[in-house]
Amino acid sequence: MPSKMYLGLLASVLVLPALGQSNSTGLDAYLEAEEPIAIAGVLANIGSSGSKVEGAADGIVVASPSKSDPDYFYTWTRDASLTFKAIIERFIDTGDAELETLIRSFITGQAALQGVENPSGGLATGGLAEPKFHVDMSAFTEAWGRPQRDGPALRATAGVAYARYLLEKGDTANVKDIIWPVVNNDLSYVSEYWSQQGFDLWEEVQGISFFTLISQHRALVEGSALAAEIGLDCPNCDSQAPQIRCKIQSLWQDEGFMLSDVANNGRTGKGTNTVIASIHSFDPAAGCDDATFQPCSSKALSNLKLVVDSFRTYEINSGIPEGEAVALGRYIEDVYMGGHPWYLTTTAAAEQLYYAVATWTKVGSITIDDVSLAFFKDVYADAAAGDYAADSEEFTAITTAVTALADGFLAVVMEYTPEDGSLAEQFGKSDGKPLSAKDLTWSYAALLTAKAARDGKLPASWGADKATDVPTACEDSSATGAYATATNTAWA
Ligand code: NOJ
Ligand code: NOJ
Repeated sequence: MPSKMYLGLLASVLVLPALGQSNSTGLDAYLEAEEPIAIAGVLANIGSSGSKVEGAADGIVVASPSKSDPDYFYTWTRDASLTFKAIIERFIDTGDAELETLIRSFITGQAALQGVENPSGGLATGGLAEPKFHVDMSAFTEAWGRPQRDGPALRATAGVAYARYLLEKGDTANVKDIIWPVVNNDLSYVSEYWSQQGFDLWEEVQGISFFTLISQHRALVEGSALAAEIGLDCPNCDSQAPQIRCKIQSLWQDEGFMLSDVANNGRTGKGTNTVIASIHSFDPAAGCDDATFQPCSSKALSNLKLVVDSFRTYEINSGIPEGEAVALGRYIEDVYMGGHPWYLTTTAAAEQLYYAVATWTKVGSITIDDVSLAFFKDVYADAAAGDYAADSEEFTAITTAVTALADGFLAVVMEYTPEDGSLAEQFGKSDGKPLSAKDLTWSYAALLTAKAARDGKLPASWGADKATDVPTACEDSSATGAYATATNTAWA
């Protein structure tokens, strides 16, 4: 029987070599247990067979089963598309046929939804950016923060991800006949409207949102590449993507962070909008490119540090020193539901850091410059500007410390996950108790992609490496393309 002292000794022996690192054994066990809960949580919220969303149409993702306080029993194009992006990545990894059936019903459902007249317009008159619909796919006609121009872009990205998979398998017919018509409508929308103001992903700010721009840029770049692969083209994608890229750079602040929104809203402008943007823009083939805000780029790392530090004032974060993970919300001035940390914003920080480590490992070096120095000093006190090759002591020390920091963010999520493993939208800034919409689909999807990143399962490249040149003069441009009802839903 080991004595108490022996256990203490054992603990210090185990912990000492990895000082500053979270207890990864506890985290491993949590994630192993949480993954099946998260996938079940996602599936329960998708119609028409989802156990918690009776009445939802086929392939329709309900944001949460919660029908009051808050009422999230709707389908948001953003939540649905990000959820399906995660499902598609999981399907490509596991080959689970049940997931592929769902993916097809999602695309078929979106083809129909694109044609539903709504307060933002019709198919060719702005309606694609309507933020949410009833779960039976009818229009939601009450007042709302509309339009939200990230939706069409995110939906295109989900469609392209599945199309890339099919093309690799030699299935051009389904891509050309079924997926492309849906994707093309969304690309037309983005090309036409990206430079106009709209509501941000948090549905509050009328302006230009960093997350929206990043989503739009990615959609046009990969949409154009997909078109080329099936013998078509997207000239408007090609003319507009560089202009969006130009606009993206203009949101950089010399203090070292990306402005969440260009809007007159009296906030500091730091927020996890930008961290979610970085993981959404991740391309494992793009290195640490600043222009596309890759997770390991100097700008994205500096931004992450400043954003994380802006949340240190939450009571549950008190006493945790700089350089260590804390619970993150949307932005510190948030008052929605009282303004608390969210699960999906906290997992986003972890996901960015896992992607950063994966990229450094892939390219075989880490570069520290003046922009990223403060971030690196937080995790590795001796950090200095320079290039560190994979066989250097610094490389090992930094990748170990950054992985530990990433684990730290997931350990925060672990700490505030209730015993049954369910993930709501938020958790209390003072007591860590789950808050707001229960069983939030996006929370579960975010947990799944963060865990996949930790497990080294990286999403496919989307062509960011060919989209790094920034025009010298930015223009708030626009190009009008074609819209056509996507009628073919007969999967070959
Ligand atoms: C509902 C939105 O979903 C949420 O993001 C927002 O904070 C509140 N409305 C307040 O505007
Ligand atoms: C409020 C969030 O701010 C928004 O991003 C989300 O789309 C809706 N809730 C639905 O989950």
